[in-house]
Amino acid sequence: MDAKVNPNELIKANSNYLRGTLRESIADELTGALSPADAQISKFHGFYEQDDRDKRQDRRERFLEPQYSFMLRARLPGGVCTPKQWLVMDRIGRTLANGTLRLTTRQTFQYHGILKRDIKGVIQGINQALIDSIGGCGDVNRNVMCNPNPVQSDLHGEVHGWARRISEHLLPRTRAYHEIWLDGEKVQDSEESEPIYGETYLPRKFKTAVAIPPHNDVDVYANDLGFIAIAEEGRLTGFNVLAGGGMGATHGDPTTFPRLADDLGFVTPQQSLAVAEAVVATQRDLGERLDRSHARLKYTVERIGLDALRDEVERRSGVHFEPPRPVRFTDHGDRYGWVEGTDGRWHLTLYVENGRVRDGPDRALMTGLREIAAIHRGDYRITPNQNLILAGVPADQKQRVEAIVRERGLLAEDRSRLRLGSIACVALPTCPQAMAEAERYFPDLADKAEALSARHGLADLDLVLRITGCPNGCARPYLAEIGLVGKGPRRYNLLLGGDGTGTRLNKLYRENLAEEEILGTLDSLFARFAAERRPGERFGDFVIRAGIVPPVTDAARDFHG
Ligand code: HEM
Ligand code: SF4
Repeated sequence: MDAKVNPNELIKANSNYLRGTLRESIADELTGALSPADAQISKFHGFYEQDDRDKRQDRRERFLEPQYSFMLRARLPGGVCTPKQWLVMDRIGRTLANGTLRLTTRQTFQYHGILKRDIKGVIQGINQALIDSIGGCGDVNRNVMCNPNPVQSDLHGEVHGWARRISEHLLPRTRAYHEIWLDGEKVQDSEESEPIYGETYLPRKFKTAVAIPPHNDVDVYANDLGFIAIAEEGRLTGFNVLAGGGMGATHGDPTTFPRLADDLGFVTPQQSLAVAEAVVATQRDLGERLDRSHARLKYTVERIGLDALRDEVERRSGVHFEPPRPVRFTDHGDRYGWVEGTDGRWHLTLYVENGRVRDGPDRALMTGLREIAAIHRGDYRITPNQNLILAGVPADQKQRVEAIVRERGLLAEDRSRLRLGSIACVALPTCPQAMAEAERYFPDLADKAEALSARHGLADLDLVLRITGCPNGCARPYLAEIGLVGKGPRRYNLLLGGDGTGTRLNKLYRENLAEEEILGTLDSLFARFAAERRPGERFGDFVIRAGIVPPVTDAARDFHG
């Protein structure tokens, strides 16, 4: 093997356009796992090999292989699905996965706990609802996000249409998925090609989001490629295009850092596909392929410079960028409860703790949403904060929907704003990267943080708090006013200073804190905030004004301090 090639690159190159030996790996009944190469290839098909980390030790002692199962992530551009699709996703979650659905921070469904023998059934099942998992994970463009903006329904419809087109345009062209999972016809190798990706696909994952101002709930600046919709009188005129955002970092490695995307310029909607393709192709050719921890577009931009990237994209697309149009974002959280759209239909945003759809002791979330799907005439929209909007409810149906959500305990009314503004990633027990808990710890942490804020007279504190089990940053913690990033078992780094709109990175404040230290630190910070805050000032702005953390101006220089 050439020592200058990353093993993942060889796996991709030798996979015959993502077929690998997946069929054989699936058929092998001696193990619950895939072969190591197929475990990489499977990501491009939307599923990820995992094992139950709570059971690792016990199984090792009993000389058993780890308890393998699979996480599968659907492709659902902009997080929109119909009630019929919801019912299919719900049924598969209950019958072929661990009994729950996970709504993700990139607006899609994730299943956990799928056994190897059931993968094909899951993929065939979601296919019946016209949903696929192509590019759910892997080194390609992932699920394209789009602000779910229910109020401006015409504008949302138009922008969402572009999000779908971008998603379709950047799909891998290989027939491997259809062939392996959907029993599609086998293609002769010579017929196949990947015009956008080539045989080795991208150096690393690639994320795209479309925002509709004034809401930045998609956290457009955290993406490799971003589109900000520019509208005049409710009609779309074009997009400001952004490039080079990304969250992941490695603890203690100053050459890795979260980064906000930069402006490339304004394009018309019709030019957006060519520009998206050119950004992807530039990253395909110029991205780092040896060291995967520096392989995202953000590091390419740092290396070649924004102007060189813009020139390259203009040359490849034939599109000339106009100067970006002014935009203003007011928030990056969700707005809960009922709201009436411009077309007279109603939309209800429900809080889904940790995005986990299941029935609990107080709230029958899964059952309630299934009951609603049976009568709902609008659509479901998964938000980028892993909540759910029942969108497009006709006025004459509002009362019926309201009755179900009340009966099943699904309204957000009894939750604090701190809880409603927070997100946690999955972490343990399924995520192989997790160093600390996130989803399972969040409810307890939120109780304690609420009690603290109430003690300082800040019960109505509007706060964006995000917690992840490791520095990869799946819940976008580096944009939060309070970010907690797992460092080791029950230990977190504390970051402060996001601006509540997702346009400013926060800053590492304290490292490796245990719970008492986190709560002790928040206690004194909340005390100061209560005493010194200016009218209307956000916590994230206060910590900078008060000199508690310096503002982050340059991610590469500032992040590790
Ligand atoms: C090196 C970087 C990263 C790696 C290796 C990584 C890996 C993973 C893994 C293994 C999971 C599955 C966890 C589970 O469901 O058990 C996951 C979930 C997820 N990741 Fe990442 N991730 C990275 C960065 C990111 C970033 C920066 C984002 C978004 C900004 C992101 C978005 C997501 C989402 C939406 C999920 C689904 C669960 C959720 O909503 O928390 N990931 N990631
Ligand atoms: S942030 Fe880390 S622990 Fe959390 S889901 Fe992502 S990779 Fe796993």
